[in-house]
Amino acid sequence: MSSGIKPPRIALLKGGTSSERDVSLTSGKFVAEALRNAGYDVEEIDVKKPEVLPAMKKADAVFPVLHGGFGENGDIQKALEDAGISYVGCDSKSCRIAIDKIASKKLMVETGVPTADFAILTRDRKALPPNLKVPVVVKPPTEGSTVGISIVFNEKDLDKAFDTAFKYSANEILVEQYIKGTEVTVGVLGGEPLPLVEIRYPGETYDYDAKYTHQQGETLYFCPPDSVPSDVQEKAQEAALKFFNAIKARDLLRVDMIIRKTDNAIFVLEANNIPGFTDSSLFPKAAKASGLSFVELCAKLAKMALSRKK
Ligand SMILES: Nc1ncnc2c1ncn2[C@@H]1O[C@H](COP(=O)(O)OP(=O)(O)O)[C@@H](O)[C@H]1O
Ligand SMILES: [Mg+2]
Repeated sequence: MSSGIKPPRIALLKGGTSSERDVSLTSGKFVAEALRNAGYDVEEIDVKKPEVLPAMKKADAVFPVLHGGFGENGDIQKALEDAGISYVGCDSKSCRIAIDKIASKKLMVETGVPTADFAILTRDRKALPPNLKVPVVVKPPTEGSTVGISIVFNEKDLDKAFDTAFKYSANEILVEQYIKGTEVTVGVLGGEPLPLVEIRYPGETYDYDAKYTHQQGETLYFCPPDSVPSDVQEKAQEAALKFFNAIKARDLLRVDMIIRKTDNAIFVLEANNIPGFTDSSLFPKAAKASGLSFVELCAKLAKMALSRKK
């Protein structure tokens, strides 16, 4: 006979309308299945707008598995907060910083998170400021998946790169010193850093092709990392935790960084508050290396939100 205690109900949000919709549908399916395996009563909702639906109100907690757009920029989080609903992940204020590369860089400087030298350029600026020299990386502040990003090796190509970035941003773009080195990502789960994942891709950047389509060749992932000494791994984890605390993140954050080839110095690039969540995604890979299965990881995140239920 059953105990008569109903399992907690989780409303799982997936889809969304950003360019990462398909990834979110896949992530969402994996998380839903894991939560059911952990004994939760899961309702999957394909969301089209940042609004609270009756099924979200009826749930004990909401688990947004939305990448990009309103799912990651704080809009859906704000709607849930206004409705008094507990949910997994960063609150709307932290999301707004994490999604904005310029806001993130400013906060990194204020809080001593190591990051590459940079400048913020407005439309009337056509030259590099004195603190930067080519090669530089030119980025719009709020896109993802390398959209609008150029690496510029030669000054004559700067204008074109600025124009490209300004296609995605009305007022300001970010120009950053290019760092040659090893790309790694560090997950932070409930305030504890996870093991590093080293990412080795065939081209110049970890772009859409390196992540998903692999026309240029395979991307290799190492967890634990293959070419990062253990003291440097610890420093990378410290940097990730420092940024997690700086943006007042909650539950989970994946912090991307580059470890410079010449001296192993660490440079934080950006953070993702709802990283990929298929069972082969990087955050789950790191959790697994720390001894947490995909089912255990999803259940742990659900419990974090449930513990905040009023
Ligand atoms: N300063 C930099 N030095 C070297 N490579 C960089 C730098 N900034 C970005 N990249 C490369 O470009 C990729 C995308 O940049 P990122 O800032 O993470 O934006 P996105 O939101 O598109 O992921 C990174 O994963 C990295 O491979
Ligand atoms: Mg990135």
